[in-house]
Amino acid sequence: MTNKYMYFIANWKMFGGLNSLNSLHKVVKFFKNFKNNKFSKIIYCPPNTLIRPMSKKLKFTNIEVGAQNCHENLSYGAFTGSVNSKMLKSVGAKYVIIGHSENRQEGETNKLINLKIKSALNSNLKVIFCIGETQKEKRKKITKQILNKQLSLGLHKIRNKKNIIIAYEPVWSIGTGLIPKSKQLFETISFIKNKNKSLKVLYGGSVNPKNIDQLKSISNIDGYLIGGASQDSKKFIDIIKKTYN
Ligand code: 13P
Repeated sequence: MTNKYMYFIANWKMFGGLNSLNSLHKVVKFFKNFKNNKFSKIIYCPPNTLIRPMSKKLKFTNIEVGAQNCHENLSYGAFTGSVNSKMLKSVGAKYVIIGHSENRQEGETNKLINLKIKSALNSNLKVIFCIGETQKEKRKKITKQILNKQLSLGLHKIRNKKNIIIAYEPVWSIGTGLIPKSKQLFETISFIKNKNKSLKVLYGGSVNPKNIDQLKSISNIDGYLIGGASQDSKKFIDIIKKTYN
């Protein structure tokens, strides 16, 4: 049983069409009546194509909407295929995920991530800043060095961090069903928190209704960034319910 404030962030990645919005009503209904809804926050981060219709659908609910990435430029520009933070804000996003490992793998650098975070904060979006080590880095036992680097370069010259939430997502645990050992996860979250006093730190990577009992026993985690399981309303609701059981 936890009685602390917890985040449940759904990262839909590149999944979902307009008909996927039909599945939201179950979560809306559940969360409206959920006894712990004052101590928790649900944020959906769908693909950009769904931000506007989803925001409309969730307008009179206690659930918020975010985006999954943004361009670093604050003004319009000739950047084919890109969308900036102001544009995301204008269609209803209140949050944006930045630095997800799937984008880092596509070549997003710590420096670029830093620019994106600054532009998002400038547009009054809250930032879900993802960090995490790869399997190879874990094997080499350089997790802390990697996280340290991602944190210091990603947050370079950002003094006011109150609108930033950190999501620790080990790359090797995303979509694999593997999660870190509890003691190790507790220590890594503590390490991140010691470097960034007062910031919330979430865990992401294969969170599901089966492993949530183990994860919720790790006392310093402030919530979860959930991929696959968040597309299934029942699984998503189960995760939230079990967190408070
Ligand atoms: P999975 O929950 O599917 O492992 O994805 C985690 C993730 O990448 C969330 O951002």
